[in-house]
Amino acid sequence: MLGLNKTQGEHLADTTLTIAVDGPAASGKGTLSRQLAAHFGLNYLDTGSLYRAVALIALNDNIPLDDETALSHLASTLADEVLSDPRLREPGVGEAASKIASLIPVRETLLAYQREKAQTAPGTVLDGRDIGTVVCPNADVKLFVTASSEVRAKRRFDELVSKGQGVTYADIFAEIERRDARDSSRSAAPLIKAADAHLLDTTNLDIEKALDAAVLLVNEAIKTQN
Ligand code: DC
Repeated sequence: MLGLNKTQGEHLADTTLTIAVDGPAASGKGTLSRQLAAHFGLNYLDTGSLYRAVALIALNDNIPLDDETALSHLASTLADEVLSDPRLREPGVGEAASKIASLIPVRETLLAYQREKAQTAPGTVLDGRDIGTVVCPNADVKLFVTASSEVRAKRRFDELVSKGQGVTYADIFAEIERRDARDSSRSAAPLIKAADAHLLDTTNLDIEKALDAAVLLVNEAIKTQN
């Protein structure tokens, strides 16, 4: 089971730094968040991998993607190892994850783990869709990372081709548009920019420039709080 420690919350430091990074599929938020965590010496949690892990097991075990009871049970019994399974990155798994992510019982089951991780010293960078709005509404810094659909599809296409996967740009573009529509229009914790999130549009930024911009925003936010 995921490293959930129900009593850990009692021992958490008050001084943890939480950075919430939200954005649509393939916006570059994962790479950016990982680098931000390394830069500031923080933990990193890719919350999409939780939804992807539930989806992967459901697909393998032929569990219908709308079976709330079975899927939230799966979410409560996830093993840490599955979060690093390379199959999580396959396009079909992302699409299935987006479907199960609209189920409230699944979201609620995964919420406790995400919140506990957020408060683990010295702090955590979390990326996802609802971090700044639902999981960590009091995050110290919130970023909303986006880019045009075309640029996002091209980045995801290049990534999958470099891993030897036989995909077409048209299929990836269509999948991204479908996922954006589903993730943004669902009633449970939809993808939406928190009012106090900083918008970071990476359409014309490479990863180094995006990281520079994000580090500046985080440093400013930390300065303002002190
Ligand atoms: O970030 P990702 O592409 O790995 O996420 C996969 C799916 O999981 C995404 O389409 C929607 C869902 N998700 C979510 O609903 N909330 C999150 N915090 C993270 C991901």
